[in-house]
Amino acid sequence: MEDKEIRKIYEKEIKKVESRIARIFKKRNPRSLYLPAEYILASGGKRIRPFLVLASAKAVGADFSRVYNAAVAVELLHNFTLVHDDIMDNADKRRNMMTLHKKFDLGTAILTGDSLTAYAYKYLIKDAKDKIAEVISLFTDGVIEVCEGQSFDGEFEHRNDVAIDEYMNMIKKKTAALLEMCCAIGGVLGGGSEEEIRHLRNYGKNLGIAFQLRDDLLDIAADEKEFGKKIGGDLVEGKKTFLLLKSLELAKGKEKKLLMQVIRKNGIEREKVLEYKALYERLGVFEIVEKEISKYTKRALKSLEALKNDEGKELLDWIARELLERKK
Ligand code: IPE
Ligand code: IPE
Ligand code: MG
Ligand code: MG
Ligand code: MG
Repeated sequence: MEDKEIRKIYEKEIKKVESRIARIFKKRNPRSLYLPAEYILASGGKRIRPFLVLASAKAVGADFSRVYNAAVAVELLHNFTLVHDDIMDNADKRRNMMTLHKKFDLGTAILTGDSLTAYAYKYLIKDAKDKIAEVISLFTDGVIEVCEGQSFDGEFEHRNDVAIDEYMNMIKKKTAALLEMCCAIGGVLGGGSEEEIRHLRNYGKNLGIAFQLRDDLLDIAADEKEFGKKIGGDLVEGKKTFLLLKSLELAKGKEKKLLMQVIRKNGIEREKVLEYKALYERLGVFEIVEKEISKYTKRALKSLEALKNDEGKELLDWIARELLERKK
């Protein structure tokens, strides 16, 4: 298939998932709970995770329709993680909209997140059928990993000796685990063999690592309007991103001192973001992170080789290549 045709499938299938999502909270009471849920879910997003569920099910030979509710479930769960992440990261913009806790209030954002998790289980169960124990367990382990990853991310803000290995472990948990879980659930519900599921998981994990590395890069290098989040947030919050850790390895003298300030002061003033961007550029870390992204994307693509269903495989191959080009 040509990429154009694949994109059409993506758009058509994601539209079906969207229309299911749009119905969930409509006219439901209390509005104080469900209006914010509608707000976050209608704010856009790339819908990568539901697509991974659909494409993985297809990759083991099942129809998309087998997993529409599971696709809804992973997107609900993802949106919960975003709402709580924005509280933890003091973010005020996402998907070019005000973050939920800014638009409403903190309590509302916490509760919306809680209820999105519960709805996620509700929708997952609808598709679970005879695989219920297995998929609930995969899903639950995914949630636990995200929480652990988010906790490491927070811990690292206050540490000055984070190693790149520790960073890699952290992003595997906070981001890659969810992408891996999406592929696993698609594969299990689609009736895949153990071996197929293993390959799918490997794909999802490596794709997820590349995805978070790209997110870190875009956080400083993207066009703000296109990215939909404020640029430089990671530096302002003192996040130990790949870019910062790599820069610390490479810098010397005055430049090293400048970087050490991020660590010593647990972040920088927003006015200084461009100064740090220029420093990253001088040190060549943008090229280094691009290389890492392409390394993990290649690993993901390699995991697809052993899969048999051509259409599903092509979809997964396409999304991995699409994400290499992403600007948001
Ligand atoms: C953002 O995820 C959170 C990360 C794990 C980096 P996405 O970039 O998939 O966010 P949306 O859903 O497209 O807005
Ligand atoms: C991903 O990390 C966090 C989640 C698990 C939701 P980030 O904190 O970098 O995500 P963004 O950049 O705010 O979307
Ligand atoms: Mg964040
Ligand atoms: Mg975060
Ligand atoms: Mg980020």
